[in-house]
Amino acid sequence: MKLKDKVALVTGSSQGIGQGIVLRLAQEGANVIINYRSHPEGAEDTLAKVEAVGGKCYMAQCPKSHGFTIKADLGSVSELQQLITESIEHFGKLDILVNNAGIEKHAPFWEVTEADYDAVMNVNLKGVFFATQAFVQHLIATNRTGKIINISSVHEELPFPNFAAYCTSKGGMKMLTRNLAVELGALGITINNVAPGAIATPINTKLLNNPEKLGALLQNIPLGRLGQPQDIASMVAFLASADADYITGSTFFVDGGLLWNYQEQ
Ligand SMILES: NC(=O)c1ccc[n+]([C@@H]2O[C@H](COP(=O)([O-])OP(=O)(O)OC[C@H]3O[C@@H](n4cnc5c(N)ncnc54)[C@H](O)[C@@H]3O)[C@@H](O)[C@H]2O)c1
Repeated sequence: MKLKDKVALVTGSSQGIGQGIVLRLAQEGANVIINYRSHPEGAEDTLAKVEAVGGKCYMAQCPKSHGFTIKADLGSVSELQQLITESIEHFGKLDILVNNAGIEKHAPFWEVTEADYDAVMNVNLKGVFFATQAFVQHLIATNRTGKIINISSVHEELPFPNFAAYCTSKGGMKMLTRNLAVELGALGITINNVAPGAIATPINTKLLNNPEKLGALLQNIPLGRLGQPQDIASMVAFLASADADYITGSTFFVDGGLLWNYQEQ
């Protein structure tokens, strides 16, 4: 168990990659906070799975379960600050922040509305910025080190026509991580990005239901399959653990080789 006694918050963990990360961190012994925006049933499903992989609680003052769900919209700074506060109140501290919540909107650049631009940037970049700030303030106040892991994308590097705001947000996340690695290093706080390729989650429902597009995409993935949430979760568990204490400011691509073999269809 790499994360015994640790407390981790995973944003947007009612489904998909976030749910996979929560389960893996719990299996490694962490106490986990499951965040959702609008699907309490998804968060409850994640919690039930956490309890099923269960084991005992390792904290000195144990809550009943070693998982906990909190509703908060990561696009709202006041709500995400409340999320961090409640997480700390529940388990007494926070050691690991996984900024996973993210959305994308499809449109040609010349048709992107201000509302869609704001929706993407508020969750994918502004939300990450201020959730990280609130977490760092807690670590400074308690004089402790911690780990920040951002779920970025191959599109922090790779252009994706018709997803300009999404790519802008993930490119911004890349630079935020580099900047904070330098600024937070002296505090013993590490920050890294995990950049998924094509993962089988609800964000890709349209693609998964289109055999022609899916077949073309698979041709571009050297390992010949879509990724699964657990492929991302195992990298997050590593970066959250003491095994990664000397790693900061880096992006780790978990993409089956897609980034270096991509051809737009
Ligand atoms: N699936 C992929 O192929 C893929 C590839 C690259 C990057 N990613 C990134 O991985 C992360 C997770 O995506 P996923 O594939 O699991 O997608 P998903 O749509 O299944 O899950 C996204 C999660 O974020 C939550 N969320 C969205 N807006 C929120 C908000 N305002 N407040 C709180 N939660 C909110 C959703 O409720 C959901 O739980 C995202 O940041 C996404 O950009 C996914």
